[in-house]
Amino acid sequence: MQRLLFLLLFLSVPVALAQSPGEINFYDHIAPIIHKNCTPCHQPDKSAPFSLITYEDVSKRARFIRKVTQSRYMPPFPADRSFQSYLNERSLTVGEIATIQLWIEGGMKEGTKKKELIEEINFQAYETRPDLVLKMQKPYLITGDNTEDFRFFSLPTNLSQDQYITSIEFAAGNKKLVHHSRLMVDTTNQIRGIDGLAETDPKVAEFQRIALKEEFLYGWVPGNDRIYFPQGTGVKLNAHSDFILNMHYAPSPVRSSDQSEIRLYFARDKVEREVKNFTLRENDISNKPFIIKAGEKPTFYISKKIDKTVSLVSVLPHMHLIGKRFRAFVITPAGEVINLVKIDNWDFNWQMTYQFRKLLKVPAGSTFIVEATYDNSAENPENPFGPPRDITYGWGTNDEMLNLVLYYLDYQEGDE
Ligand code: HEC
Repeated sequence: MQRLLFLLLFLSVPVALAQSPGEINFYDHIAPIIHKNCTPCHQPDKSAPFSLITYEDVSKRARFIRKVTQSRYMPPFPADRSFQSYLNERSLTVGEIATIQLWIEGGMKEGTKKKELIEEINFQAYETRPDLVLKMQKPYLITGDNTEDFRFFSLPTNLSQDQYITSIEFAAGNKKLVHHSRLMVDTTNQIRGIDGLAETDPKVAEFQRIALKEEFLYGWVPGNDRIYFPQGTGVKLNAHSDFILNMHYAPSPVRSSDQSEIRLYFARDKVEREVKNFTLRENDISNKPFIIKAGEKPTFYISKKIDKTVSLVSVLPHMHLIGKRFRAFVITPAGEVINLVKIDNWDFNWQMTYQFRKLLKVPAGSTFIVEATYDNSAENPENPFGPPRDITYGWGTNDEMLNLVLYYLDYQEGDE
């Protein structure tokens, strides 16, 4: 194993080439890897539960870090990067993983602190002040009865005029228990006033019938941190609209509370182009009904033609617990295939927005294809029911969904 690692190291990291494990040190070799790939989340006020910035932070957890990097659990990035590449992708090279391993074996040398490096770990680049912070009106009490909890909250923006959002961030109040959240925008104001409405409340079915302006503006899970729209573009937020926040809290045996917030960054300059989205959904499935029978492992297909030319910005695939595989691509009228996203190991806990490296032109007359496979067998450890039951569409986590949210701009010459 040692030999193999050296070989891999030889192939992929020129920097560590001439070094024996003892010479690998934190400041020269480890900090650059950690700061680029881990610190964006592992710092105060971001999603990860502890910081990875200093020598102490990293050496204290070295063995754990070795484990999660070798298993590729961290940095989290579920999509297959050989299918399509993304602006927000993160991963370590084999050489970087080996460097971490060798550093630990060599006794975790600290090396010499370099001033410039420490200054680089100043996160100014990430932070600008949000223009509007929408905080849950009061702390929501998590009762500590060890069950999952799904709730809806309404957060009025009270905006007197339309604004364009260039960036959005969700900040979990209770990092331990906020499992995921989904942000919707309602311009009818008919859902106003709810504050912790249970997902099981009959009112939810009524709300589901209201046409929302944005059904899925942003899906947050730990890891899907702040998202940005391309320069000169933004999502239009109408005056007086309300955010509807769907929160999922993990089971907990202790009483605690949560008061999460949404941070919105508005365009300073004139927004030339509006980022819009549309969602491919259960109604678009070609092999309906969308019923996942107990014990079965079906694949559902969506095939939907569009009649205008668009430039895709990003995609957000969405399924629930028993989703297993997800693949989406486009076939153009000329028969060309454009890959969008492929996830072979669906993980409900790591759902994120995948932003393309450059805008993807999808010509009018193209067909979007989605293939989604579910596993409703008793062998699936993620199955919420034992014995399995038929599962069908619903917002509840134990129900299922099949969505692909597409963020796009109307096509302009030169986008590609
Ligand atoms: C996109 C955000 C993000 C990035 C990037 C990221 N982490 Fe994490 N990390 C998290 C979150 C959120 C958790 C807590 C959830 C969990 O443990 O699954 C976590 C948990 C961990 C844990 C604890 C795992 C456990 O089982 O409790 C370790 C160790 C860790 N990260 C190391 C790293 C290292 C090393 C890197 C860089 C190579 C990294 N992380 C990159 C978000 C991130």
